[in-house]
Amino acid sequence: MEFYGRQDLLELLNKRSDALSKGYRQNMAIIGAELIGKTSLLKHWLSKYCDTRVVTVYIEIRHEEANSFGERFVGNLFFSFLKNSHNGLKDDIVFLLERCAKYIPKTTAFARKILSERYARRTDVVFAKLLELVEQFNVESGKFCVLILDEFHLLAQMPPKDIYASWRKHIMLNKNTMYILLSSKKELARKILAEDLALLFGNFEKIDLQPFDNKTSSAFIRDKLKSLSVSEQIIAFIVNFSSGKPFYLNAICDALMNYHLKSAREANLTFDFFV
Ligand SMILES: Nc1ncnc2c1ncn2[C@@H]1O[C@H](COP(=O)(O)OP(=O)(O)OP(=O)(O)O)[C@@H](O)[C@H]1O
Ligand SMILES: [Mg+2]
Repeated sequence: MEFYGRQDLLELLNKRSDALSKGYRQNMAIIGAELIGKTSLLKHWLSKYCDTRVVTVYIEIRHEEANSFGERFVGNLFFSFLKNSHNGLKDDIVFLLERCAKYIPKTTAFARKILSERYARRTDVVFAKLLELVEQFNVESGKFCVLILDEFHLLAQMPPKDIYASWRKHIMLNKNTMYILLSSKKELARKILAEDLALLFGNFEKIDLQPFDNKTSSAFIRDKLKSLSVSEQIIAFIVNFSSGKPFYLNAICDALMNYHLKSAREANLTFDFFV
């Protein structure tokens, strides 16, 4: 997927992460309607951002058992650490634990412990242990962490519900980790931030992700449909029809391109046939 727009937010993400490694941590929460482009924004930023002092970890929260959540979390943290240190990589938990044991032995031993005990554990307990693991990782590796939790509101929906008490404590005490929380459930996310994650230190900078503005939407359409001669009226129509939502802009432009290619192919076939 080619990524468009969102330059101001990409710069803000760079700025906040750079500040983290200088001792100023500002947590962020990016909230926006479904399909508005939250995940794409973070994935694009992650594909560009590079600082050997900062390890970025992206976790999509899903409805799942505590054991598989634990394994995914540890896997992502260790994978990002090795990638950040330009180390050889394989997306396999056994390999990652073995390789990391050389560089961060205490963190690896703790991760093994969490994973081996995890089957008897509940999500809230595993989550609290994983936050301790990140803290241990900061201390041992000397690296900062940007922890991105996509659809974070789902954490509280995995029973049992009270994950916030220990989370609040970790956010306040561990200033070497910056959180970026994403959510498509606007009201619920705002409520969690205002009540359950309201903090004395480490509060969240809230960003309401909006659809593309008219200028970005038009540029997007012109670029996607550059091989067709599309009039200004058609562009204005697509902008209005999609309300600037990138998912719909993409879907409409792809459909128009496919339609165009298909009619061109059919036109050629007819021509060849008659010749
Ligand atoms: N900046 C962008 N440039 C190009 N395409 C984009 C952009 N942002 C989003 N899209 C398109 O919109 C689709 C939906 O985006 P994305 O999955 O990032 O939204 P989301 O807000 O995370 O959705 P959800 O609420 O379902 O998690 C993407 O698959 C992509 O096709
Ligand atoms: Mg998403």
